[in-house]
Amino acid sequence: MKGLVYERLHGNLQALNLVTVDRNLDTTLEATAKAGKSFMEALDELVGDEVTARRALSAETRIKLAGFPARKTLEGFDFDFQTSVDPAAIRELATMRFVHNAENVILLGPTGVGKTHLAIALGIEAARAGLSVTFVTATHALAKLKQASDRGILERALRNLCRSKLLILDELGYHPLDREAAHLFFRIVENRYERASTLFTSNKVYSEWGEVLGDPVLASAALDRIVHHSTTISVRGESYRLREKRRAGTPAPVVPLESRTLRPLHHERKGGK
Ligand SMILES: Nc1ncnc2c1ncn2[C@@H]1O[C@H](COP(=O)(O)OP(=O)(O)OP(=O)(O)O)[C@@H](O)[C@H]1O
Ligand SMILES: [Mg+2]
Repeated sequence: MKGLVYERLHGNLQALNLVTVDRNLDTTLEATAKAGKSFMEALDELVGDEVTARRALSAETRIKLAGFPARKTLEGFDFDFQTSVDPAAIRELATMRFVHNAENVILLGPTGVGKTHLAIALGIEAARAGLSVTFVTATHALAKLKQASDRGILERALRNLCRSKLLILDELGYHPLDREAAHLFFRIVENRYERASTLFTSNKVYSEWGEVLGDPVLASAALDRIVHHSTTISVRGESYRLREKRRAGTPAPVVPLESRTLRPLHHERKGGK
């Protein structure tokens, strides 16, 4: 009789797709009996584990859908090496308050200092917090939009690109934008302004964005919207890649000075609602 109930219970748990409850049932029943726990405590544990497992699974799905180029985490970021970044400012961003408030984040700095690492890590935190994320390089996003525009489906492509709560546009400024790309960039900014968050990474300080967009008027209209409700984090210092190379004993290539140092821009918060 007991065996029948047990079989039926497993069958029903599987039918309800309660995979974790089904898997943990035996061990929880045994532990409950041993510890003299109540039925309610056992049920609470089983249901709690099921919820945790489902949340982890959907976070993984969001991480996969985001299109991150690599898996980088905040735990894996060495704040002792990167002293120009205030860990408290990153912890604040990791609360995802900025996404709930549709604010932007801009990570500025020279090559190799950890901008993309931090962008991905914050994206992963967003996914863990249940938020949808899209990661794309600015060049790729704009090329896709241009293709869509040529095929007469720009609005659909723009909606698709902007569907996530957090859009991460990596490497803005690495290639100068032509007139059409600059306008498409403005369309992204306009689309998300005060509606949803965008995280930008760039190796160019704000005063150089006019050059990047090839149009100072468009750049200032875009920047005005981007920084209205935003946090700017300036990452400075030596390239982590070069340090790794040096540690491995490989001589570092000669890097032009201007690509290693950027005019300091302090961590600032503007606006806020
Ligand atoms: N402080 C850090 N702690 C741990 N790893 C780091 C740190 N900074 C950078 N890295 C690692 O160094 C490599 C280069 O960092 P990343 O790609 O984030 O640089 P970047 O600022 O985006 O450079 P680029 O402008 O060239 O794109 C990555 O593998 C990253 O994980
Ligand atoms: Mg990068």
